[in-house]
Amino acid sequence: MSTTQISDKNKQYMQNDHKVVNQVLARCAPIVVERASGSFVYDMNNNAYLDFTTGIAVTNTGHCHPKVVKAIQDQAQMLLHTSVTTYHKKYIELAEKLVSITPDGLDSVFLANSGAEAVEGAIKLARYVTRKPAIINFRGSFHGRTLLTTALTTSKLYYRENYEPLPGSIYTIPYPYALHSKFKDNDQECVNDVFRHFDILFNQFVHSDQVAAMIIEPILGEGGYVVPPDGFLKALRKLCDEKNILLIIDEVQSGFGRSGKMFACEYEGIRPDIMLMAKGIASGMPLSAFIASKKLTDKWPSGRHGNTFGGNPVSCAAALATISVIQEEKLVENAKTIGEHILQSLQAIASKSKFIAQVRGRGLMIGIEFFDAQGKPSHDLAQAVIDKCFDNKLLVLSCGSFGQVIRLIPPLNLSLAEANQGLAILEKAIMELH
Ligand SMILES: Cc1ncc(COP(=O)(O)O)c(C=O)c1O
Repeated sequence: MSTTQISDKNKQYMQNDHKVVNQVLARCAPIVVERASGSFVYDMNNNAYLDFTTGIAVTNTGHCHPKVVKAIQDQAQMLLHTSVTTYHKKYIELAEKLVSITPDGLDSVFLANSGAEAVEGAIKLARYVTRKPAIINFRGSFHGRTLLTTALTTSKLYYRENYEPLPGSIYTIPYPYALHSKFKDNDQECVNDVFRHFDILFNQFVHSDQVAAMIIEPILGEGGYVVPPDGFLKALRKLCDEKNILLIIDEVQSGFGRSGKMFACEYEGIRPDIMLMAKGIASGMPLSAFIASKKLTDKWPSGRHGNTFGGNPVSCAAALATISVIQEEKLVENAKTIGEHILQSLQAIASKSKFIAQVRGRGLMIGIEFFDAQGKPSHDLAQAVIDKCFDNKLLVLSCGSFGQVIRLIPPLNLSLAEANQGLAILEKAIMELH
């Protein structure tokens, strides 16, 4: 087959897609992926693309890891579904596993299907047990696309616009994003400013004794891959303890080794009251979870929350295999080592480019922020680099309120050679901007 014929095959599928698939579903790269393995996806032309997107931070063990695939196959032959009509073994085994890998004191698990559903469940739990209405969220956060999670999301206007009225009693505090604050180079002042906003909130908007919970991403994801200054999450924990507010940590994007720790909140050694997980939990099978203390969930009577598909046996088997692979193949350690190599290499590239405002991140959760010649966040520059990377067969995604950040989220078992291959493509694309 000639190249034209083959690429026509890709094109034909995309045309069919445009006929029958709701156009609201935005796709980033114009290829139809037929198969994937490790760090690569293959289009219908059998072109290999190095994948630094992992289906938005999901395939942390690499595409189609053989141990995960085997666990899925084995489970599919045994039991596909039972729901809450019975107990099932894999649900229980996975709950035990999640208790063992999350911070001490979190020992009661609920399984659902998506990140947004985990957020919804956690807020229902918080409101039910505290009997308080208000929730605090942080500016720039992303928590999902259901109506409640849309109300909690402020990373971009287009996630909210024209969906009002959204659920209320949500109060937004700035995330400590120094580069976008008036305290550019002063992390401490930026953090102090966040706490001044808490004072204003509790004096002018809502009494702290009406607040059930605050919800925060330990590393801002969709909002721009922003790492909060050291000590910030600890200070939030202290505030929550003083005011009797539950602290919900959303590890949907940062969890399962992505940050160079199993969970990003471990960097500060804090214990959330409720922790949320999804994405990387099952290497691509739909699954999410929230975990809290039994003391808390004992106040939530049986039947007050539930679902049909959550904790599906096949997804649970995939999650158990995923966690084993992460542990046995030391993927958390690899994420840290390879992540530091990528971060340092990008910092060297940034020193040669006038358009990179900052390179930041933890583990294999890395952001490159682009500013234009006027010092303004630039979607166009980030998009130009993304397009050039695509032409050179590297897949990367944007994030940030203006789409001005390129995020790198490769599999956690990325090799040094693959990291360098991606870096070479990125460097070329960035230098071509000049
Ligand atoms: C931090 C965070 N929370 C929640 C969600 C929502 O997850 P889902 O798309 O699975 O509903 C996302 C998705 O990107 C996320 O990054």
